[in-house]
Amino acid sequence: MIRGGKPLEGEIAVGGAKNSALPSLAACLLTSERVALGRIPPVRDIATMQKLLAHIGARVTVADGSVTVEAAKIKRPEAPYDLVKTMRASSLVLGPLVARCGRARVSLPGGCAIGARPINLHLAGLERLGAQVSQDRGYIEAVAPNGLEGAPFTFDRISVTGTEDVMMAAVVARGETIIENAAREPEVVDVAALLNKMGASIEGAGTSTIRIEGVEKLHGAEHSIIPDRIEAGTFLVAGAITHGDVTVTRCAPDHLRALVEKLTQAGAHVTEPSPDSLRIRARKLKSVDVKTEEHPGFATDLQAQFMALMTQSEGISIITETIFENRFMHALELARMGANIRLDGRQAIVAGATRLSGAQVIASDLRASASLVLAALAAKGETVIDRVYHIDRGYEKIEAKLKGVGARIRRVK
Ligand code: EPU
Repeated sequence: MIRGGKPLEGEIAVGGAKNSALPSLAACLLTSERVALGRIPPVRDIATMQKLLAHIGARVTVADGSVTVEAAKIKRPEAPYDLVKTMRASSLVLGPLVARCGRARVSLPGGCAIGARPINLHLAGLERLGAQVSQDRGYIEAVAPNGLEGAPFTFDRISVTGTEDVMMAAVVARGETIIENAAREPEVVDVAALLNKMGASIEGAGTSTIRIEGVEKLHGAEHSIIPDRIEAGTFLVAGAITHGDVTVTRCAPDHLRALVEKLTQAGAHVTEPSPDSLRIRARKLKSVDVKTEEHPGFATDLQAQFMALMTQSEGISIITETIFENRFMHALELARMGANIRLDGRQAIVAGATRLSGAQVIASDLRASASLVLAALAAKGETVIDRVYHIDRGYEKIEAKLKGVGARIRRVK
């Protein structure tokens, strides 16, 4: 429940990146030794991944934001439907399990609120490394009884978790793997850094070509996860949409360049008071167009939040979503609050600035719910967001963090 119309002021600290923590936890399955990961955000998707690792047979210990995984024995190299259906990123265990045990069984994810999201690219990569893949009763089975063999592989289209999955499988394959058209997201770089600490030999993560020299085995390591750039970006937009003055701390400004550029073009004043913080101040905003792209382009995970901002900017904004085919569910809910948005295929045309008023709305997915929270912060009156559990999948105590900078927000049963 949010009562809007108040400029936010103060500092908000971001946590570790959910989308780096998820593959990093899966990577722990590659060794029988202990891996200690720092700055793991205590969000729902991470709890699901920990449950999955425990199901597989790993010992998972959580203490003070750090998580220790010890996969001494793999009991069940599988990701069951019950876990995969609540979190698609469960498929990230596929590569590590085939690499470690020579077999894996992972439920097919099924539909998703933001698009089809198949895992065919993950499978093509694993097949190239010598895995035999088949499908049976809703499950994908991959086997490589004689281990995996390094090979060149070019992704048909860029996939973040696909790149991570194939990279994790290739680190213990025999010989060299070269992944072309690899995702360049900071999360891929972070997972590669962890794997290298575990004894892998990976070069080029963060570029389109990743070179991996297979090693016999990996060992334990300690690693701290990078800051969550999407959480940071969401708070920057919160500062802008409320015409406030917000400093986002413990973030990585380099990972947020595309967003900062668009915020600046829209008239916000963004500065970097220290190497790990960004301060935003905003008054009147003007509309700008954005097109989502793979990193270093504008992140699809910030599209919904930016759309909320464009409802409060003067002029017409054309928002083009190129990564997912159905990621505009928030537009209809924003319209219920008074936004003027027309959808045309992969484009949303937002006319602003409109006066938003509090309403009852429904969150359809993680980033859509963040967009509704932002709109509510700018709206007159009270907004009630239903199915807010979506937000807990990826944001740690968002209401407490926003309250800390003056938002009138509370969680009601
Ligand atoms: N795709 C395929 N086949 C595949 C894999 C992907 O066709 O085998 C398509 C997808 O359907 C999509 C496009 O390729 O149209 C790109 O998808 P990608 O594989 O890059 O997405 P992902 O790895 O499943 C990650 C994040 C998402 C984020 C996307 C894009 C994690 C755990 N998830 O998903 O995060 O939106 O990359 O940047 O890293 C979120 O945090 O809210 C979230 C959805």
